[in-house]
Order: sequence, then structure tokens, then C-alpha cells
Amino acid sequence: MPESVHAEPLTSAAQRPLNLCDRLQITHLSPQHPSAQTQIDPGLAVISGLSCTPKTLPAQYFYDDRGSQLFEQICELPEYYPTRTETAILQAHATDIARLTGPCELVELGSGSSTKTRLLLDAYTNMGLSPWYCPIDVSGSMLKQSAIDLLEHYPTLNVHGYVGTYEAALAALSVSPLPTRMICFLGSTLGNLNPQECQVFFEQLTRSLQPGEYLLLGVDLQKSTAQLEAAYNDSQGITAAFNLNMLCHLNWRFQGNFQLEQFQHLAFYNSAEHQIEMHLKSLCAQQVNLLALDLTVALERGETLRTEISRKFDLAILQKQLQYGLEIGAEATDQGCPEPTKQLKPLQTWTDPNHWFGLMLCQCQQR
Ligand code: AVI
Repeated sequence: MPESVHAEPLTSAAQRPLNLCDRLQITHLSPQHPSAQTQIDPGLAVISGLSCTPKTLPAQYFYDDRGSQLFEQICELPEYYPTRTETAILQAHATDIARLTGPCELVELGSGSSTKTRLLLDAYTNMGLSPWYCPIDVSGSMLKQSAIDLLEHYPTLNVHGYVGTYEAALAALSVSPLPTRMICFLGSTLGNLNPQECQVFFEQLTRSLQPGEYLLLGVDLQKSTAQLEAAYNDSQGITAAFNLNMLCHLNWRFQGNFQLEQFQHLAFYNSAEHQIEMHLKSLCAQQVNLLALDLTVALERGETLRTEISRKFDLAILQKQLQYGLEIGAEATDQGCPEPTKQLKPLQTWTDPNHWFGLMLCQCQQR
């Protein structure tokens, strides 16, 4: 059939709604990508963690495809209050956030299933704005599926996803197509960084934001030990499976021979450090080999490998640290030009009625 027979005379190409593929772009950031050059060799982090006393494992190894699915299940558990509570805060205040920022590209670090993002996307679309969404996640399969689901639901949405670590993706972000950008770091993932990592992370974040751009930060707050420990020792054993799955991931990635039945999940609140600690306890004296790392580790019976910290915050202290403690000095950039001094100014904070969780909107400002 000749093309001229098609009756689409009233809509020009520019006006025609774009189909799903035209609105989706996914960039896979390999460790070889220039933006990922600053990353530490992941194998080295395993070697150095297992050589420390006490021994640790890098939490990034929770998140293979199975680990990401288990984490999604954790978020639904009755004992795991953070996801439900943060969602309720977003439900109540997404419109306030959209009004404060105006038209804005949403960049989400650790996007997972992008469930909470929908509340923000609804708020922007209800204001008549066509949103742009930039999910960043290490799980390519989950990122792609969530992006497709979102594109089907929001006909005017554009998605540019990055598969890789936060560090690599923040360095690789293209210029925002909208007047401003908001980086969303939800779910209290900030709590999984120790204070030094937190400092480095905020420096990179501030470097990635232009003055006037936003950070939306979700943080879990300090509360009773009983409530915290229940959230990380759920009755269905999903958190235990999530913790143990890290050993499967390491076996696969580094040709290891961890035997899962020789380890036990352990989670407790360290009240001096205000952090939940997750460990894997060795149930016998054993040796583990990671062939690809040329590493043999001896473990005593009862010895633990710390797999995660989950820090619990005091909102007033965090606000002060953000504003006064986490700023970029006038150090030289890669190009040899001084980086203008910037700070993250908390604009507004929302919590739930129980003060279990906090959501903070900050703006990057020139000092
Ligand atoms: C991703 N992160 C914020 C979760 C947390 O609560 O620290 C990871 C988690 N670990 C066990 N349960 C959930």
C-alpha cells in the first residue's frame, strides 16, 4: 500500500505521540567506562574486607538479580516499616515537593522497582508537566522492566536509565533536558554508608548538582532497639535469605566455595553507633577459597563477617551536617579549574506522625 494512503494528515511528526521505544534509553556503564575510572576494583574491596579484623564484606554484593528481588520482598514485610512509612510521607507530600521544584528531571539512585517514584511522577503529571526520569541501578533487568512499566503507564514520560554504580552514573549523567534536576536518594540507603563513605558520597553528589538543583533524601530515624531488631530479623526469614544470598553471589562472581549452610544470619542494633549491623556467622571452623581472587580465608567457629551497617539518623544533626559539614572546598577539578564552593541547604523536612522516617528536600546553593 502506498504511504500516501495512510490518513494521518492532521498530526505532524513533531506532534505525534512517541511510542515506547522512542521514549526509552538505557546506558550500561561498564567498569571500563571513563566515568567509572575512579571506582575501586570490586575484587579488591572483597580482599581488603576479608583481610580486616573484624572481617567485612562489601554490601554492594547483596544486589545480584535474586538479591534485588529479595530486597523487594523485604520492603513488603510487616516488620520492615521504612518502605511503608516513606511511601506514606511521599503520598502526603509529593505535591508539595513538585510545587517547590517546578518542572524537573528526576534522577533516582538505586531505583529498584521505582514504586515510590510513581508518587512523584503523579504529582508532576497532575501539574500538567511531562516528566523525565533517570533511574540508576546495578540490576539491569529490574531497571529495564520498571522503565517499561512506567512508560506504559505515563504516556508523556521519557526515561534514560543508567545500569551501574551511583558513582559511575553520577559522573556520566547527561545535561538535564528540563530547567532543573532533583536527585532522589530514598529508602535510607544513605544509612548503608559509613561516615567517611557518606562524606565522599555527598561531595560527589554536590559536584553533580548545579546551583538551584535539588536533592530529595529519605532517612530512617533513631527508635527503639526492639522495633529496629524486628525489622532486620523478620519471622519469614526473608532478610536472612537476602544476607546469605551474598555468599551465592560471591561464589558465582569470584569462583568461591562458601557453603551457605555453614553460615547463620545475625542482625542487632549497635546503640553506641546508632546502627543495625548484619553479619554472617560461621557455624564451624572452615577455610573458604575465592579462586578468581586467589584468596583463601580461614574462619573460626562463631566468627562473623559483617555484611552491612544501616545507620539510623537524628534529623536535626543530619540537617546541620548537610548544611555546614558537607561542602566542597575550592579544590582543583580534573580540568585544573577550581570547583566553586557549594552546599546542600535543607529547604523542608517531612516526617510521619510517629517520627520513624524523615524526608528532606535540599537545594544545592553557591556558598
Ligand atoms: C537498602 N537499605 C536501605 C536497606 C536497609 O534497611 O538498610 C537494606 C536492608 N538490609 C536488610 N534489610 C534491608
